[in-house]
Amino acid sequence: MRPTERCPDREQKNVQHGMVAWQLSQFMHGEQGALIVASQLVGAVPWMEAKFYASSQTMDEARHVEVFSRYLHDKIEWEGSINPNLKKLLDGILLDSRWVSPELQEALIPVGPGQSSADQAIGLRSALRKLAR
Ligand SMILES: [Fe+2]
Repeated sequence: MRPTERCPDREQKNVQHGMVAWQLSQFMHGEQGALIVASQLVGAVPWMEAKFYASSQTMDEARHVEVFSRYLHDKIEWEGSINPNLKKLLDGILLDSRWVSPELQEALIPVGPGQSSADQAIGLRSALRKLAR
């Protein structure tokens, strides 16, 4: 016998409702994090094609947030707060200084006149090594 089976039906349904709301809320908060990360990528990447790609990903993530948010508000009528561990993970990603690392940005600038792709590869490798420390 599961512990919830000892509870009255109404209480069991309330617990199940809360569990579904909490799970779907975590998906929504994760999608919000994906939306912010994708939008930061638009500014972080130097190539126009990459900006187009990150922009379309940002739009996709916005739609995912909207779907979960509407479902939670319109159908479930219950939105849970973000799990502290998920928040910590998202904060770690979003507050990482590497989004604006000058070394990485310099290394990612497309090859210019007088610079070979080998020079750029060496610069990128060097920047990535610095980031890995
Ligand atoms: Fe998504």
